[in-house]
Amino acid sequence: MTTTLDALAGAARGATLYGIGVGPGDVRYLTLRAAGLVRSVDVVAFFAKKGHPGNARRIVAPLLPDGRPEARFEYPVTDEEPASSASYQQQIGGFYRETAEALAALLRQGKSVGLLAEGDPFFYGSFMHMWRRLSGEFPVEVVPGVTGMSGCWTRAKTPMTWGDDMLAVLPGTLGEPQLVERLRLTDAAVIMKVGRNLAKVRRAVEAAGLLSRAIYVERGTMQDERIVPLAECRASEGAYFAMVLIPGQGRQI
Ligand SMILES: C[S@@+](CC[C@H](N)C(=O)[O-])C[C@H]1O[C@@H](n2cnc3c(N)ncnc32)[C@H](O)[C@@H]1O
Repeated sequence: MTTTLDALAGAARGATLYGIGVGPGDVRYLTLRAAGLVRSVDVVAFFAKKGHPGNARRIVAPLLPDGRPEARFEYPVTDEEPASSASYQQQIGGFYRETAEALAALLRQGKSVGLLAEGDPFFYGSFMHMWRRLSGEFPVEVVPGVTGMSGCWTRAKTPMTWGDDMLAVLPGTLGEPQLVERLRLTDAAVIMKVGRNLAKVRRAVEAAGLLSRAIYVERGTMQDERIVPLAECRASEGAYFAMVLIPGQGRQI
């Protein structure tokens, strides 16, 4: 059985960058290919917030024996400053440039590098900034992952789109009027990046008349998961890994 799974997963090739989607949090939601690469790449690379172990690294920890070569890249800034500010863009731009150079150095040595990405690498992922800088020069394979939102609506036992429902995925960083406007136009919605924007998101959902349907999911599929109606969330801030789900009410036959 294990041999069959290993054969299906396939191994890593040298001098190749892998963007490995590691899913929403529970290690069992990794794809076969992701699990195979986590175990076979020469270097497991990951991003982490200052003082934190790195969420994607934590997800795959059960697959990483001690002593495995790792490369940790620590964000100089995350959600302490608005992403639109000049200071944020300067710091994060420099960080991405240096990280891409460090990854390129490993690839030039002939190493296979697996850069972990929480959820799916091409969905609001930092990996995309590496892909943009490196895919012209080096072979890159992207391994899709179960997105955070799939994990969250599954754990919340909430079917999201019925029949012809439209789904909007909105960042909670939008201004309150924009959030209300977009929410009024859609049947179903996922609001990402809720964290520090929780109070604003709640007001916008209420103004759009959707509060009774809205569910707040924090750290979906992870050990300390929390799922509550948004109406019961009175705090001004939520966790970084938090989203709001508003299910559609379309054709239910
Ligand atoms: C930078 S985006 C990364 C999205 C990721 N690439 C994906 O495919 O879901 C981070 C945001 O995703 C959402 N998120 C991702 N995983 C989550 C989870 N397990 N539980 C709750 N929110 C999650 C949160 O809104 C968080 O602020």
